[in-house]
Amino acid sequence: MFAAVSETIGTSAFARDVSEGLMDGTRKTLPSSWLYDEVGSALFEVITLLPEYGLTRADAALLRDAAPEIVRLAGEPERVIELGSGSGTKTRYILEAAAAEQDITYLPIDISGAALSACSSLLGKLPGVSAQPLEATYLDGIEYSLRGREADERALILFLGSTIGNFTPREAEDFLDAVREKLRPGDSLLLGADLVKPREQLLRAYDDALGVTAAFNLNLLGRINRELGGEFVLSRFAHEARFDERHSRIEMHIRSLTRQRVWIGALDRAVEFEDGETIWTESSHKFRPKEIAAIGERVGWEMKRQWLDPDWGFSETLFSA
Ligand code: AVI
Repeated sequence: MFAAVSETIGTSAFARDVSEGLMDGTRKTLPSSWLYDEVGSALFEVITLLPEYGLTRADAALLRDAAPEIVRLAGEPERVIELGSGSGTKTRYILEAAAAEQDITYLPIDISGAALSACSSLLGKLPGVSAQPLEATYLDGIEYSLRGREADERALILFLGSTIGNFTPREAEDFLDAVREKLRPGDSLLLGADLVKPREQLLRAYDDALGVTAAFNLNLLGRINRELGGEFVLSRFAHEARFDERHSRIEMHIRSLTRQRVWIGALDRAVEFEDGETIWTESSHKFRPKEIAAIGERVGWEMKRQWLDPDWGFSETLFSA
């Protein structure tokens, strides 16, 4: 595996974000990307199987049905680049359709080496597919994965699973702009995005009966304990899911169940919590189909087609650079 760039990856970046997010501001917050250590990534895989969380199944079903058309509209790409190493199952549909005509290269990009090895060893075994995983940030990874390509080689970028919803609207737009700038005319982007749905359905999906999402969220405190010498007692905190209708987003918070002080060794400082105070750990935006097209088009992408799953409420949008 090729580790491209690691400036923003690693313990010191985590320590910096924990220090800024828990000690410096008035409202406590941590970037959701830190949810995915080995334990968090395993818990997320379980979330994708829960009956309450239909997002991943809807994503996979759309890709299964639309894969040949996606590949055709994307101009039969030789390079398929996936942002986030995703679950092998849904990416497989695209790779099989793309490799039906010619040999292709699959380049999954992730900052987690463990997630990359699992998915690329599985998908690299498909006939006609050679996998080249890249341990890097998304934008650096795209740059590396496009090096040395021939003038007539096309690339298809996959950004599935509604990870775009974990960005703020501003970040999402800037990110799609930055991705497009790294590509050539004729390259494509397939964007999976979760749609607006009833509040109760969303709250169940982000606060499931088995408590897997609660464990996924609270693991962030466990990670601070393991990696930064934190002394969080997890039973003194609780998972909370909220729906902010105005901003069309689900939020995950960790609520302190008491007034408390928690020591974090690597920072040589304690964090103070009021009773009921929360750490905001994730936002998951829910979109309207037209809004997705508009975000892409505002930063220069042309929408080719959109596929909708009416049961759960999910969308795949194919853009051309
Ligand atoms: C990865 N991401 C799209 C998931 C989501 O639904 O926002 C992460 C997640 N958080 C709680 N459950 C799943």
